[in-house]
Amino acid sequence: MKSVHVETHEDPVDVSTNARVIEAVLACQEKLPMACGGKGLCATCHVYVVEGAERLSPITPRENMSLPMLADRQPNSRLACQAKVLGNGVKIALPRVQYLDGSVELEKLIGRRTEVPIVHPLHGTVLIAAGKIITRSRIRELSFVDIDIAEMQSRCQSIEKNSYSER
Ligand code: FES
Repeated sequence: MKSVHVETHEDPVDVSTNARVIEAVLACQEKLPMACGGKGLCATCHVYVVEGAERLSPITPRENMSLPMLADRQPNSRLACQAKVLGNGVKIALPRVQYLDGSVELEKLIGRRTEVPIVHPLHGTVLIAAGKIITRSRIRELSFVDIDIAEMQSRCQSIEKNSYSER
C-alpha cells in the first residue's frame, strides 16, 4: 500500500502500489466526471502534483499528447487516470474548476454567479469565468461542448477497438 495526500482531504489515503492516482482522488470522494472514461483524452482528471512527482510512474505517451492541450496546464500537471503510484508521500491538488459536461445541471445554474470557472471538459478552456452570472443564452451558445464530447467518445471507441484487435 502507498499513501497519497489529496489537498482537499485532511488525511492521506492508502491505495495499492501501482494504483492510478485517480483511485486516491475518488477515495477522497472528490467528484471527477472522467469524460473519456480514463483513456487519457480529456481534462477532467487533471491534477497538479505538489510533492512526490518522482514517486509516480513516468508521463505516458497519452499524457504527452493530451497535457499540452490543457489550458491550465502547469509543469507539475498529470492526468490522474494515467499516473501510477509507486511510492509513499505523493501529494496532489485539484484544479478549482467545474467541468461543463452531462453531470452539470445547467438549468439550475441559470441566474446564479459561478463560484469557480466553468471549463471545457476536454481542454480546460474557461467557458464562463468565476463570478459571472450564468445566462440562458450563454448556456445555449455552449452547445458545441456536447459535440466535442461526442467526437471524443467516438475516438475512445476506436481506441478500444484497436487495442482489442491488437490482443
Ligand atoms: S479521465 Fe479523461 S484523461 Fe483521465
